[in-house]
Amino acid sequence: MRSDRARHFIDLSRHDGDHLRHLLDLAGRLKSGAPPGRPLRGRCLAMIFRKSSTRTRVSTEVGMAQLGGHALMIADRDSQMGRGESVRDTARVLSRYVDAILIRTFAHDEVVELAREATVPVINGLTDLLHPCQVMADLLTAMEEFGGDLRRLRVAWIGDGNNMAHSWLNAAAQLGFSLRLACPSGYGPDPEILAHARAASDVELCPSPSEAAEDALVVATDVWASMGQENEQRARGKAFAGYRVDEGVMARAHPSGIFLHCLPAHRGEEVSAGVIDGPRSRVYREAENRLHVIKAILLDLIGHAPRG
Ligand code: CP
Ligand code: NVA
Repeated sequence: MRSDRARHFIDLSRHDGDHLRHLLDLAGRLKSGAPPGRPLRGRCLAMIFRKSSTRTRVSTEVGMAQLGGHALMIADRDSQMGRGESVRDTARVLSRYVDAILIRTFAHDEVVELAREATVPVINGLTDLLHPCQVMADLLTAMEEFGGDLRRLRVAWIGDGNNMAHSWLNAAAQLGFSLRLACPSGYGPDPEILAHARAASDVELCPSPSEAAEDALVVATDVWASMGQENEQRARGKAFAGYRVDEGVMARAHPSGIFLHCLPAHRGEEVSAGVIDGPRSRVYREAENRLHVIKAILLDLIGHAPRG
């Protein structure tokens, strides 16, 4: 795979394991103490949000501030992009103002085009296809729990074969951990992303959540209908009925196994309240780790580049 190292952070499959481990180590160090000085002083990040966000937006804005830089929000409702200005023109103009661009949008191709046209680094803050920053935060959470050797990790993904599942698959491929997925029929992951991960690591589709969760150190899930799929809510509710992470599923996991969810969550749908609010849940630490991870990504992308 071609490496986007030091240029963009869009797709975990474009970063080799060493680079991902470096980012995770850096995030861990940033969590234990602020870096000296203000390493991103004078630097600006544009944050384009074409979908809603709480964690991604706030962690990125706070992360930039903590590193001495500035982040500015560009929402569809009050930007020309929202009125149809092209990705190309947006990329070329923003590149003349800011040092990096984070974008959350629907079509993954839009991020790829933005990165192609921009002359500054681009960070994927979630697309319909991938959510790489979130899975990095999930990996940091797992490392805190089980130690730094990620090859020993055993992850179960229960539910939709969506952007989160795809980034888990890419992470498994690059970092060499074991991943079991249980997805309802018709809602499995992208076949190409799955095939790539299966060729690189111990990745299997399982017929049921319980089988996927067997001996897992991490059991992870996500909403049944992602942003943009609101009109599928009813059909998905039926298809996903047997795919709730509940106490029965968690009982199959390793005795030390933890539960992760990127949030926002729907208690009583994809996860029982007892699990997400129970002793094995690490969802708030996982959310906190978004901050440490995005700071590491920002430092890596724009911390050392010459200005001007
Ligand atoms: N997990 C996550 O990306 O949350 P937000 O949608 O609030 O950014
Ligand atoms: N799969 C969810 C993740 C939200 C953080 C979505 O895309 O809406």
